[in-house]
Amino acid sequence: MKTIEVKICLGTSCYIMGSSYLQELADIMPSKFSGRVNIIGHNCLGQCMSQGEKSNPPYVQIDDEILDGATIEKVLEYIEKKL
Ligand code: FES
Repeated sequence: MKTIEVKICLGTSCYIMGSSYLQELADIMPSKFSGRVNIIGHNCLGQCMSQGEKSNPPYVQIDDEILDGATIEKVLEYIEKKL
C-alpha cells in the first residue's frame, strides 16, 4: 500500500507563520488515511530562502512536492488527491 510522507517545516519562518498548528494534523487525520500517511516535523526545508520576497510560509513537503501557504485544510485536500 502506498504511503505518503508529509514533512511539516518547523523552521523559524514557517513556525511563526503557522506550522505549529499543522502539527495537529497527526491528531485529526481522518481514519480513512490511517496507516497511509507518515507525518514528521522537519528543519527548514530551504524554501523560505530560495523563494526570497515571494516566500509564502508555512511550507509542507508532501512526498517530492512543496506546498506553500499550508493550512490543515490544504494539506488534507492534497493528500486526498494523491491517494
Ligand atoms: S523555515 Fe520553513 S522553509 Fe525555511
